[in-house]
Amino acid sequence: MKRHVLSLLMLVLAGFAGRVAEPTPSERRQAGQQRSVQEINDQFARQISASIAGHESEPAEKVFKNIQWLKGTPAGTLLVIMNAGYAKALGVSCTHCHAEDDFSRDDKRPKRAAREMAVMHRSINQQLRGMKELTSDAQSRAINCSTCHRGAIDPMRAPGGG
Ligand code: HEC
Ligand code: HEC
Repeated sequence: MKRHVLSLLMLVLAGFAGRVAEPTPSERRQAGQQRSVQEINDQFARQISASIAGHESEPAEKVFKNIQWLKGTPAGTLLVIMNAGYAKALGVSCTHCHAEDDFSRDDKRPKRAAREMAVMHRSINQQLRGMKELTSDAQSRAINCSTCHRGAIDPMRAPGGG
């Protein structure tokens, strides 16, 4: 009985300690930065979304100027892929890849690298679906940008990276 009360007390104390523990300055900075990158990205996405209002379900290549890879993807879906996919996977803002004044331009190297990554991504998924010794449904097998990047530009530097 006594032991019970003691362990209960320890649990309560542990919980209390957890609650009062202040985030370190670097943790707070990190949380702040992540929020503001997401806010910036949401703002870009909202602006572009407003500029294509009524055309969201048309193919991206009809609505935007320089679509080479995501042809056939609805324009609205492209924006979701950019924001919730590409930008979030790498933990970057849109302007890591895009020239702020014209998103169709290809002068930033990371944008061109992202197209090469998209080719690799598709080929990995095709290989996964062709594998014979897995028990999962072949069509459901997939990786995405986050599988490797996990919020970092360099996957090897991502949490848990090699
Ligand atoms: C990791 C790089 C990367 C990031 C980050 C990124 N994009 Fe892109 N974006 C691309 C690539 C690559 C293309 C071209 C796709 C293609 O050729 O099919 C593109 C194309 C676009 C286009 C079409 C432009 C045009 O006129 O041709 C828009 C709009 C766009 N992105 C919006 C965004 C927004 C909004 C964000 C941030 C929320 C974002 N992108 C973040 C790589 C990126
Ligand atoms: C199989 C793992 C893997 C997948 C999946 C993957 N990447 Fe990468 N990506 C890497 C590696 C590794 C690097 C190289 C880091 C380096 O050495 O510069 C990289 C680098 C990049 C870079 C260059 C960043 C810079 O600023 O130099 C971009 C952009 C990028 N990836 C975008 C993407 C996008 C978008 C996707 C999804 C379509 C994706 N990646 C999927 C492994 C991956």
